[in-house]
Amino acid sequence: MKSSKIIGVGSHVPEKIVTNDDLAKIVDTSDEWIKTRTGIEQRRVTDDQTSTSDLAIKAAQKAIKMSGIDPKDIDVVVVGTCSPDTLFPSVSCIVQNAVGAVNASALDVSAACSGFNYALSVASNFISLGTYKTALVIGADTLTKYLNWQDRNTCVLFGDGAGAVVLKQTEKGSGILANYLYADGTGKEFLVMPGGGSRNIRPKDEEERCISMNGKEVFKFAVKALENSLVNVAKLAGVKLEEISLVIPHQANVRIIDHVVKKLGIPKERFFVNLQKYGNTSSASIPIAIDEAWRGGKIKKGDIIAIIGFGAGLTSGANILKWEV
Ligand code: ACO
Repeated sequence: MKSSKIIGVGSHVPEKIVTNDDLAKIVDTSDEWIKTRTGIEQRRVTDDQTSTSDLAIKAAQKAIKMSGIDPKDIDVVVVGTCSPDTLFPSVSCIVQNAVGAVNASALDVSAACSGFNYALSVASNFISLGTYKTALVIGADTLTKYLNWQDRNTCVLFGDGAGAVVLKQTEKGSGILANYLYADGTGKEFLVMPGGGSRNIRPKDEEERCISMNGKEVFKFAVKALENSLVNVAKLAGVKLEEISLVIPHQANVRIIDHVVKKLGIPKERFFVNLQKYGNTSSASIPIAIDEAWRGGKIKKGDIIAIIGFGAGLTSGANILKWEV
């Protein structure tokens, strides 16, 4: 068995910034409420002409550039997304063509906000088994397109973006040390995006088309799921929690992160948080955070990093890795 390591990382967010004050003009909310209940201060929002693959391609090009590989050497493109441009073709096929990964197979993975952890696990297992040697893994979403801007319970939470990594085969014991994935379909009603699905192909209004959420239930699941994911992935990797230099959690709500910090007793400074700038970018939140943490000097060669997330489904997932760049 082999392992896989990240050799390139990149991210991209749309230019348009929507602040909490902007939202307070269209829905009954306030900057104070959103900041204290979620930690979010602003988010990036795509225009009507920009799709998920447009963001994914830009993030992928940056990751490929950093890795120094020839796109022809990519064996597989795996994209975690729940807001594909179309039901088919997949976002991964669109990216494969755009970046010139002419020898790669391509698949999308649907696990909502857990998408990047699922996609990374799929790709790293292909590499560990020796099926492939090089993978492009992306988390990309444009959930603002599925928001009902009259629903204050959801429209304040989400933003758009994409993040990508290039994975390369390495020896066991370095790079990605363990993956842990989990799902609990009994919670399928708590977070739903019916738009575009075969259950209701002609939604009669925004309420039927857009994201609906039971925030309290998702919150309860998230706290437990993040805690369990981190404990389980660390156990699988043979790593003690105190050996982890940086935990990169899914960037949904700072109060969810605070609960996990308290529960696990890991110092808050070891949790990376950038949700104040982007809101919840779904599958993109973790790879955007990895990119920012690395470029900001918060990750050094040899560090043990844990990435932990949760999402609709309900799903959760984690990967633990030794940073090799
Ligand atoms: N502005 C002002 N008031 C609001 C807003 C808002 N934007 N949203 C809700 N409220 C009100 C509610 O109507 C309620 O009023 P009421 O008491 O008169 O009924 C009050 O605020 C309290 O509402 P709660 O739902 O109890 O607020 P809570 O503290 O639970 O926070 C929140 C809500 C932020 C949504 C929280 O539950 C949460 O973060 N849940 C997790 C959501 C999440 O992470 N989703 C993404 C999952 S990832 C994926 O796969 C997409």
